[in-house]
Amino acid sequence: METLTLVGCQFGDEGKGKIIDYLSKDFDINVRFNGGENAGHTVVVGDKTIKYHLVPAGFLGARTVVISNGVVVNLKKLVEEIEFLKKFRNNFDLKISEIAHVVTGLHFQRDSYLEKLRGTSHIGTTLKGIGPAYESKFGRYGIRLVDFRDRDKLEENLALLSKVYQIPFDGTYVDDLMKDYSKINRYLTDTRSYLENELEDGKKAMFETAQGTFIDVESGTYPFVTSSYTTTAGVTVGTGLSPKYFKKFLGVAKAYTTRVGEGVFPTEMFGPEADELRKLGNEFGSTTGRPRRVGYLDLPILRRAAKLNSLDYIALTKVDVLGKLNSVRVAVSYESNGSEIDEFDPTRTVDKINYESFKPWAEDSSKLQYYVDFIQDELRVPIVLIGVGEKREAIELNGKIAF
Ligand code: IMP
Repeated sequence: METLTLVGCQFGDEGKGKIIDYLSKDFDINVRFNGGENAGHTVVVGDKTIKYHLVPAGFLGARTVVISNGVVVNLKKLVEEIEFLKKFRNNFDLKISEIAHVVTGLHFQRDSYLEKLRGTSHIGTTLKGIGPAYESKFGRYGIRLVDFRDRDKLEENLALLSKVYQIPFDGTYVDDLMKDYSKINRYLTDTRSYLENELEDGKKAMFETAQGTFIDVESGTYPFVTSSYTTTAGVTVGTGLSPKYFKKFLGVAKAYTTRVGEGVFPTEMFGPEADELRKLGNEFGSTTGRPRRVGYLDLPILRRAAKLNSLDYIALTKVDVLGKLNSVRVAVSYESNGSEIDEFDPTRTVDKINYESFKPWAEDSSKLQYYVDFIQDELRVPIVLIGVGEKREAIELNGKIAF
């Protein structure tokens, strides 16, 4: 049994898609275990850009891709995504958990309503109904894919949801949902048993999270978080598998930091320097198109991510983008209430940041190696892969991954 679980070390958008795509050919199975269409894992194949929202980003490389029970599924979006992906691979094998929850139009409306209710303290969600879908799951009035087997039962469940939210729905609404369901029901199965059997049979599986460590609902910068478990801890509940299957963990970190939505961001940059980095890195949300907030690499954040996720390896992405700046800075520690701290804690204020400066490396790769060595020494986690460009093949090996 060989597995690798891959997470994002920052606030999401670390470039996980490209790393998952790269590694996927080494795995029989690639599983997505949390989040919904709020995610956008981008892979550039030739002159085409693929944005995976619900389907695992190892779609092109792995023999089988699985959407497990921890994911919340917008049926319409999934149908569209599968249709789009067929252009790139026709002979795919997709399995979807029959107990995954469904994001309906009622959840979308609830998301907008809650954001409005929060006023100036809004979270800046993707407005894709994600928080409400998990809210209804935990409230035990959610809609699951198995509910679609029996239209009467589905209507009963939708009626309860609509009463809780005080949003009406009608029969055409159910017809539309059923139409989309009919296009994906052939992929539904008990993914937990499937994965268990495959792993016991010696097959290799890679598990991918959506979003990043610090927007995890438990470990992140609450309430400015998403509503799922984005850390390695989420892989067991998100798949239903025993923790015994998970031994190796890889974190993807971008060479600088970005964030979409509200919430703390200690190393945030502003002004022309920020604009330049945003432009160089094309830092605009792949799901919503929103400009991402940008900042320097933050080692206190990565130290905490390494511990929380038990990282064995790191993949560092977009170093080519950072190397084009005139000056490169890295946060090495914070000052907080009169003491120096070297690990991010979302509940503590950051009064001052201590930075280390580096020479840009656009013209000199030895300077890049110095930067990479510095980070892995500080984190005590090997950086095994380095992303050096947009294209799927623009990855350099810096060490070995054993799993
Ligand atoms: P939600 O997941 O749409 O509820 O949004 C909650 C917070 O998570 C917002 O700040 C979003 O911008 C952020 N978020 C959700 N998905 C992603 C993602 O895939 N990348 C980065 N940020 C995300």
